[in-house]
Amino acid sequence: MNIILLGPPGAGKGTQASRLVKDHAMVQLSTGDMLRAAVKAETPVGLEAKAVMEAGELVSDDIVTRLIDDELTQIGPVRGVIFDGYPRTAAQAESLEGLLAKHGRKLDHVIELEVDEDALVDRITGRFTCAKCGEGYHDRYKLPRTPTLCDVCGSDQFKRRADDNEATVRQRMAEYRAKTAPILPFYEARGLVKRVDGMAPIAEVSAGIETILAG
Ligand code: AP5
Repeated sequence: MNIILLGPPGAGKGTQASRLVKDHAMVQLSTGDMLRAAVKAETPVGLEAKAVMEAGELVSDDIVTRLIDDELTQIGPVRGVIFDGYPRTAAQAESLEGLLAKHGRKLDHVIELEVDEDALVDRITGRFTCAKCGEGYHDRYKLPRTPTLCDVCGSDQFKRRADDNEATVRQRMAEYRAKTAPILPFYEARGLVKRVDGMAPIAEVSAGIETILAG
């Protein structure tokens, strides 16, 4: 099964993708994670992407499409894929069609997480992750069981993203409205779009996604 998770910044795409990885042994392809890794490693892609990401704008279509192509080659045909944060423009949606054909995959669902944008600023500015294993937390909605230790790996090191400040979040949302939301009709015309209330508690959102996958 191959699915796209769509929704504005903070809608819960990463949260739901990690759960699908655990429960269904799918592979999460997050262009945001790939780009952050490239920025950290100071690769040519990372050097080009850094300022764009910090401004809350979109990195070039060519770069992200190449990243996805490389990952699909490495994964091979067996495991299902969750596209998290890709495609984000009409050009990327078109490129994805070519990539799916090239790698012998077909799209099963495009799941849109429907959210209230005002609540997302609070979600994003409050989130942090374990610096060691990447488990996600939130200052109010999901704190570690022992306050200073990661539930999963026990690390006491946590980090926050450079683009998770209010001004950048608002720019990322504007990019979503202008460039990403307009790709939905392309998938709607093929009957692939399913919607889940992304404002519900995390477990309920997961249950909604499960119903779609089982249907
Ligand atoms: P990317 O990393 O993709 O960021 P994003 O789309 O802005 O999405 P986020 O990761 O911020 O949010 P999410 O929906 O995954 O939410 P999460 O699950 O973390 O992209 C970053 C940048 O990279 C872009 O701005 C761009 O520059 C570049 N980029 C990436 N892909 C690109 C592409 N294809 N083309 C061009 N440029 C690209 O949840 C947020 C918080 O809320 C968490 O703390 C979580 O615990 C909490 N939460 C989640 N669900 C719930 C819930 N139901 N109730 C309460 N809290 C919840």
